[in-house]
Amino acid sequence: MFWSSALILGLAHLAASKPLVSKRWDDFGVKHAWVDVPRGWELHGPAPADYTFDMRIGLKQDRFDDLVAALYEVSDPAHERYGQHLSKEEVAALIAPHPDSVDLVESWLHAYGLSAANSERSPSGDWITIRVSVAQAEKMLGTKYNVFRHSKSEDYVIRTMNYSLPNVLHEHVAVVAPTTYFGTMKSMKATSFVKENAPTIESDVDVAHLLTGPSSLATVPSSCSSTITPACLRALYNTSSYVPAATDKNILGVAGYLDEFANRADLQTFFKRFRTDAVNSSFTTVQVNGGGDDQSDPGVEANLDIQYTEGISFPTPNIYYSTGGSPPFNSDENTPTNTNEPYLDWLNFILAQDTIPQTFTTSYGDDEQTVPLDYATSVCNLFAQLGARGSSILFSSGDDGVGGGDCLSNDGTNTTKFLPNFPASCPFVTTVGGTIRINPEVAVSFSGGGFSNYFARPDYQSTAVSTFLTKLGSTNKGLFNTTGRAYPDVAAQGENFQVVIGGRVESVAGTSASSPTFAAVISLLNDFRLSQGKSPLGFLNPLIYSTGVPGFNDITSGTNPGCGTNGFTAGAGWDPVTGLGTPDFGKLQALIG
Ligand SMILES: *[C@@H]1O[C@H](CO)[C@@H](O)[C@H](O)[C@H]1NC(C)=O
Ligand SMILES: *[C@@H]1O[C@H](CO)[C@@H](O)[C@H](O)[C@H]1NC(C)=O
Ligand SMILES: *[C@@H]1O[C@H](CO)[C@@H](O)[C@H](O)[C@H]1NC(C)=O
Ligand SMILES: *[C@@H]1O[C@H](CO)[C@@H](O)[C@H](O)[C@H]1NC(C)=O
Ligand SMILES: *[C@@H]1O[C@H](CO)[C@@H](O)[C@H](O)[C@H]1NC(C)=O
Repeated sequence: MFWSSALILGLAHLAASKPLVSKRWDDFGVKHAWVDVPRGWELHGPAPADYTFDMRIGLKQDRFDDLVAALYEVSDPAHERYGQHLSKEEVAALIAPHPDSVDLVESWLHAYGLSAANSERSPSGDWITIRVSVAQAEKMLGTKYNVFRHSKSEDYVIRTMNYSLPNVLHEHVAVVAPTTYFGTMKSMKATSFVKENAPTIESDVDVAHLLTGPSSLATVPSSCSSTITPACLRALYNTSSYVPAATDKNILGVAGYLDEFANRADLQTFFKRFRTDAVNSSFTTVQVNGGGDDQSDPGVEANLDIQYTEGISFPTPNIYYSTGGSPPFNSDENTPTNTNEPYLDWLNFILAQDTIPQTFTTSYGDDEQTVPLDYATSVCNLFAQLGARGSSILFSSGDDGVGGGDCLSNDGTNTTKFLPNFPASCPFVTTVGGTIRINPEVAVSFSGGGFSNYFARPDYQSTAVSTFLTKLGSTNKGLFNTTGRAYPDVAAQGENFQVVIGGRVESVAGTSASSPTFAAVISLLNDFRLSQGKSPLGFLNPLIYSTGVPGFNDITSGTNPGCGTNGFTAGAGWDPVTGLGTPDFGKLQALIG
């Protein structure tokens, strides 16, 4: 239970009478509308009128601009407030809705027979969750709910093709869910894949042996160009000689979805083979919103994430968050099995904690155009809160280069264009692309990269990105948005990862491998800062695009083709294939000390 049930005062006078729905609640304006049913989904039939679900109403955060200003100040190494992260209470004060917004939304609920006293509130009151029937929701939002089926995962959801709000509410309500965001735990893309027939190794004692003593790139064994193990990454990213010293405070969090479970026996097998000094250490599983922990069903993504975060950050404590769906329903043909949406549950759970891990990695995403702008903005703003609290948030950049499939727009015109990924495109996260090979590392061809159509380019990357665009000239003109937030920010190895799954070593690829790798290096930097009595790094981007630049190995070759093009090309400086490059822990340590 993470929403605090709030006692709603001051509503008693409303409870006595039930006014008819007044004119102003019928005066609708469209909030968000799709032209076509989102790709991958099909209409199954009308939603049962008496089916009930939890409606989440995101209220406009009255002082959100102040929160963003504070985020940038505490994250900018040149600012006097650097490192002075905000407490949960300080963040809550900045994101609280205006009292007028609360009043209006409560009277709107009341007009439909819903008592605000039966709602749950986020700690700062910016999210109201209330159980409604389909019939009620349809009247409130001037819409029609249907059951849709995801062809591949056979997931059933109730969603709408569009929804409206009374015009008086538009300036007070940021988003209502579930409505037009079709993403679910099962339909989201995990950014990893097992490579059949790729070489695997059973142990790397030889590799690890070569690396005892201070490492340098010259000693990275050649086997690392075809099989990646923690020893390879520790050598490549220069962490081998660092001994964590703040393991009583520092925590690395892995966000898991899709009913993916991290397996403890597989982790021990992995340690025995690839990180012998870590044998017998494990991780904590935190189950969010009914998330499972089925130890008989190891997940590729979950095992990859935890084996590599621990393989590099050991003995730093790691937490695996298993985020589940809503309470189980007795599902039949017509009943949706799942109404909840992935990010909101996890984010609201984390933000309600008093202390949170200093580093997080997540390896899931969607095509940005499939996430409604209002929903994407609300989720992205929640990441800003995590950054303000002092956490570094890493996301994989996606595995389709500049875009997968036919790359058609979903605005009704079927225009060909690059398809950026969300949350990779959110300016408040640090997005990790992929590399391959050693001496030198080059961009891996699937490395997701591009420019957001939702979020404008933030100041921290304006110089880096305009330098790139000038060099790019007219290449790919019209296929991407030159004013959008550009990603990835950084990169790390993304192919040939040796992962133990069900007792067997498999070769796994994807920027899903890159994000936990990069996160583990950041977690070690956080350990260093904490062990010096300093604050954690928090939101990384203002640092890495300024004083942090010399701490990266610039990746200068490779492309990320997609959408029938060669995509972008990695070159000197920032590029939308590998960002600023891969981390050199030793150099970054010197820069952040
Ligand atoms: C909303 O979707 C319905 C179909 O479900 C359609 O008839 C209606 O025209 C749509 N409204 C808007 C504003 O797109
Ligand atoms: C791990 O635990 C087992 C059983 O308790 C013990 O026999 C073994 O020595 C331990 N190994 C390490 C490396 O700590
Ligand atoms: C766009 O393309 C999709 C799939 O290729 C097709 O189903 C749809 O009818 C097209 N829409 C338009 C407006 O051409
Ligand atoms: C391009 O990105 C900006 C944000 O920088 C956005 O406002 C605009 O709508 C985008 N253009 C298109 C065609 O998506
Ligand atoms: C690794 O880090 C050390 C500092 O710990 C630094 O002196 C060295 O240059 C780094 N090695 C490489 C190859 O970048």
